[in-house]
Amino acid sequence: MGNGNATVHIVAESEEESCRLVDGLRSLGFEADAAIKAGNCIGCKQRNDIVVVAGRFYEQGRQRLPPLCHANRDRIIVFLADMRSEEFGALYQAGVRHIETIGKVPTDNIVYHLSQMDPEMVYRASKQRALRADKSLVIEQGALSFFKKLRDGAVDTAIEETEQQRRAIEDLVAMSPMSVWLDLFQNYHDGTAQHCSLVTSFTLMFAKALGFGERETGRIYDAAFFHDVGKAMIPLEILDKPGRLDSHEWDVMKQHVLFGHDILMRDERTAGEIARLARDHHEYLDGTGYPNGATAAGIDDPTRILTICDIFAALVEKRSYKSPKKPEEAYAILKSMAGTKLDPDLVSLFERVVDDYDAAGRRARAGKSFPPPMRPPSDAAGSPDDATRPAMHRRTA
Ligand SMILES: [Fe+2]
Ligand SMILES: [Fe+2]
Repeated sequence: MGNGNATVHIVAESEEESCRLVDGLRSLGFEADAAIKAGNCIGCKQRNDIVVVAGRFYEQGRQRLPPLCHANRDRIIVFLADMRSEEFGALYQAGVRHIETIGKVPTDNIVYHLSQMDPEMVYRASKQRALRADKSLVIEQGALSFFKKLRDGAVDTAIEETEQQRRAIEDLVAMSPMSVWLDLFQNYHDGTAQHCSLVTSFTLMFAKALGFGERETGRIYDAAFFHDVGKAMIPLEILDKPGRLDSHEWDVMKQHVLFGHDILMRDERTAGEIARLARDHHEYLDGTGYPNGATAAGIDDPTRILTICDIFAALVEKRSYKSPKKPEEAYAILKSMAGTKLDPDLVSLFERVVDDYDAAGRRARAGKSFPPPMRPPSDAAGSPDDATRPAMHRRTA
């Protein structure tokens, strides 16, 4: 899958900055990668590829642009902080037409230049995004009907249905991890279905971060997807109650782990480990969890992983009885439980997933506006240190 031909290669000063831009473009449906600066030359790419140079390249205290040997100079975009007029002139003379003076490059600015340079490429990217939206719909509708069927007692067909969803989720994660999920969840209503999908996505990300192989990932994926199926047997008045549950309601709610275990044991494809994980995902290492009050020795790694993803998802979700927590607040709560209720090593490693999720959220919340058109610097002979020189493009957030 992808755009078919042209790739956008990012050359930035730091790996972090390259990743940010590559990630941003990929989430918008573009093929993008971080170009490696080899020797003195950057931009030796395939004919149709586009090279984006972004940063404030300094050498021995002096600003300089890396040498460009791209055959098609009209397929180079240069973002250079504090650019002097002579630098602009040299680039223009060399045939580079897409130039901006800007330090921190918003992804939208790149898209703006791409739309001028290669409208076809932008069109293909938007088709790619539409394809993702289709897959999101499969997951959304599938998860809702899955829980409805379980409530109606049609366990077999409900489990069969998840196959299509599973493929859609796998495709989505392959296309672009977190930002796609965020889009999907914004319009989602069924609390449990949303929660299971979110826990599944965190679990997939965590499994990747932990270096799990395909088979292990598949198993923990199933466990995450089915972990709360038992909630289909809990009355909606309890599931959707706007306030706190009283002790009787809480006792009923806790039954979801045993209901889930029973449902999953009825189907031979999900029996065994998956059913056990559905039963044990509320157990804590210190024995204060339910249904059995198991302790550390009786709680294996997949269960520990699932429990962390489950709690984090529940904290960042909006529920009828609470507003969503920010990722850093939710992670602070996980950390406060590490060592007593949760595995401390796994909680530390989970920080990478939190960072990914947080970054995707910030990108999704960032406004989408196009930059003003290109124009050369207004000064004639400013020095690189001249802080008073007006910026060529001043963007507001
Ligand atoms: Fe649960
Ligand atoms: Fe859960």
